[in-house]
Amino acid sequence: MAAPPRPRLLWLATGGTLAATGRGIAYHAGALSPEALLAAIPEAGQYAELELASPFAMDSKDATPHHWLRLHAAITQALARPELAGLVLSHGTDTLEETATLLALTLAPTKPVVLTGAMRPPSEAGADGPRNLLHAIRLAADADTPPGVFLVFGEEIFPALGLRKAHTLALQPFAAEPRGALGTTFPWLLPPIEERPSSLPIPPSWPRVALLAATALDAPEALRQAQETGAAAAVLLLPGHGSVPERWEAAIADATASGLLVVRASRCGLGPVLLHPVDERLGTLPAGILSAPAARVAAALVAPFPREEHEPLWRARFLPYGASP
Ligand code: SIN
Repeated sequence: MAAPPRPRLLWLATGGTLAATGRGIAYHAGALSPEALLAAIPEAGQYAELELASPFAMDSKDATPHHWLRLHAAITQALARPELAGLVLSHGTDTLEETATLLALTLAPTKPVVLTGAMRPPSEAGADGPRNLLHAIRLAADADTPPGVFLVFGEEIFPALGLRKAHTLALQPFAAEPRGALGTTFPWLLPPIEERPSSLPIPPSWPRVALLAATALDAPEALRQAQETGAAAAVLLLPGHGSVPERWEAAIADATASGLLVVRASRCGLGPVLLHPVDERLGTLPAGILSAPAARVAAALVAPFPREEHEPLWRARFLPYGASP
């Protein structure tokens, strides 16, 4: 009897440590071809028939909106191909949370789109890339995986929204708000997920979103300067739970009153920024489940819309915590 046909997947390889050459921490990201990487995981053929494409191969620290737009276009085209069951996207871990946020907010996918990467180059003992890639292929090919954007990394399956790279070197550098990983790859466990797709349009030109730290050494004038130089939004990197220093309050209230979208994010690596009475008073939005870099992507996508339209979406997608405490 002939073997049943395997699901067909497209693997978009974009570089990162998963495709690095060299050893130690001074390696060269994105140097190996997807074909060479695939040769290291012959088991992948059990799960899927793979089509390979590499729109670019880079270290993700160098990504710009131009790369996001290319990826968005390639994925949108692939989602429209009925013969494809899903997609795998390998990506450097350093800015993966921005790409994941963009895709989760703009795609409304009808198939699984599974991101993965690696923390150790393939030439290192204990390289994690081959295992992560194999798990991503399996997840994208699995008929039980719901449509949506996911990350598979270090034997865990994460949602794309709420993701953050929270460690510089650990083999599991990722964490996710509000509830951590959705599932695991050992045992293979992905409980049912309530997917809430949104398909925000990609802005015709990428709005400027300032990222402003508010430490003892920073002055609130930075907010006015950002506005004067054309920023459509500002994400504030604030202490603790997004706590606003008193000396910043007047500048923030002025900025929001004149239409700037101002997001309170935290400089802590982990934990949410919840709705707080200060938001009512100053007109800010809390980052909720989003890290500061992810909040910046989200702010760029919603900034073109009037506040009465973007605020309900922001609350529904990024503040799944119920009412203000
Ligand atoms: C990168 O982000 O491209 C390099 C680092 C990594 O993939 O872990």
